[in-house]
Amino acid sequence: MYACTTATVEETQQLAATLVSLLCAGDVVVLNGDLGAGKTHFVQGAARALGVEQPVTSPTFNILQVYPILPHGKEAGCVAPGESAPSAINHFDLYRLDEPGELDDIGYWEVLENGGVSFVEWGDKFPDEMPDDYLELQFTADTAGVRTIAARAHGLRSSQLLDAWYTMT
Ligand SMILES: Nc1ncnc2c1ncn2[C@@H]1O[C@H](COP(=O)(O)OP(=O)(O)OP(=O)(O)O)[C@@H](O)[C@H]1O
Ligand SMILES: [Mg+2]
Repeated sequence: MYACTTATVEETQQLAATLVSLLCAGDVVVLNGDLGAGKTHFVQGAARALGVEQPVTSPTFNILQVYPILPHGKEAGCVAPGESAPSAINHFDLYRLDEPGELDDIGYWEVLENGGVSFVEWGDKFPDEMPDDYLELQFTADTAGVRTIAARAHGLRSSQLLDAWYTMT
């Protein structure tokens, strides 16, 4: 477990930019925490760092948005041997889903394998539907502006990611 605090949106987004520079195709980051805790702003920071120019909004009403990463976008940064740089950011928000079966309706498992990196807000609603390996971020709003972001690795790949991220922050 590794936790840090951010005092501003910009700090949250910088933290996301550092993480996303390490992510490869197929990596999954699950973001949990209350409404307004900062999950979507974190994903915005990640998307911007990978050169996504479209504004990243909350996908609450349509559950999933896929943002392609242009080949000539900013350096994706994935340098792990045998891994590929991500081709998209997949942004899920499971808040409005009631049943795990609804994940099939949105092609959840296929999208996780589409060559992008996936950010899943409210993944803790469906703990049995998380992939074998993922990095979990728990967001807590402390006082005005201050957010605590606690990270926990689930699996070998996410443990390596967390170690690498930790040394960069
Ligand atoms: N340090 C900070 N990091 C991130 N957001 C912050 C911070 N301080 C204040 N905020 C504010 O908190 C709010 C976070 O909203 P955001 O949509 O990212 O939350 P969320 O966790 O995605 O909520 P939801 O569960 O409704 O999707 C924004 O209004 C943002 O300006
Ligand atoms: Mg959100």
